[in-house]
Amino acid sequence: MKSILEVIKLNRLVSEWRENNNTIALVPTMGSLHSGHISLIKEAKILASKTVVSIFVNPIQFGRGEDYESYPSNIESDKKKLEKEEVDIVFIPDLKQLYPMGIDTDTRITVPYISEILCGQHRPGHFSGVATVVAKLLAACKPDFALFGKKDYQQYLVIKRMVSDLLIPTLIVGLPTQREKDGLALSSRNKYLSEVERKIAPKIYLSLQKASEIIRIGPSNFNNAKQELINELEAFGMKVEYFELRRATDLALPKNDEKSFVILIAVWLGKARLIDNIAIDL
Ligand code: PAF
Repeated sequence: MKSILEVIKLNRLVSEWRENNNTIALVPTMGSLHSGHISLIKEAKILASKTVVSIFVNPIQFGRGEDYESYPSNIESDKKKLEKEEVDIVFIPDLKQLYPMGIDTDTRITVPYISEILCGQHRPGHFSGVATVVAKLLAACKPDFALFGKKDYQQYLVIKRMVSDLLIPTLIVGLPTQREKDGLALSSRNKYLSEVERKIAPKIYLSLQKASEIIRIGPSNFNNAKQELINELEAFGMKVEYFELRRATDLALPKNDEKSFVILIAVWLGKARLIDNIAIDL
């Protein structure tokens, strides 16, 4: 596995690969790799002949007072995991490589509507930060495929929309959320949970499963049941930021004849902001 720190070197290498008829898959990450990332890498290796994993903690997707400074990072242990998966390149740019003019005046990409609701409403500017850095990573790597976990379902849709609007010739692949045995969605931020909070955290997925059963009986029942489900979670010390039923394709409010839904939730548990979702096809 090669470690590449500079965009120009990555450009050169991927051009050589292309001349030799290789296909390329990119797995963008912020490091602190867990089994969720590894499942993306395994799929990337099935899809393409060359795999690139990027590690970059992107400052512009963090709001003021969020965990940019403390975001868990362990490059050496990440590299070992990537070697084991036989990744071809780990791309580890610094700030100057991705934001040559600095982060205050750089070009930003904004994906309208879908970026402003749910997580976007609570984290203004977050999805513009994500869309901007992903566009840069796609420009640097020119992959045929880029893979993302559907735990960040809204992020996945924002990126799909951005790539489609900007005519970027990369297929965005979303893979199912990886979970601990007790149902907790894998996330680098689970590291923020205390022992007691870790035991409580699986209630989030349990709650999504309950909501999903209610919707299967009739989607209109969700609104009546929602407050009770929120109260249950808050009785365990969580603060529910949102708990919403949306249309799966674009996160708009579902119409009466909707068949494909997603329920999305964000909660605070101690220092950790955790998100999860469940898809329902009727
Ligand atoms: O999901 C993440 O880890 C990040 O938001 C991403 C897609 C790597 C962009 O920084």
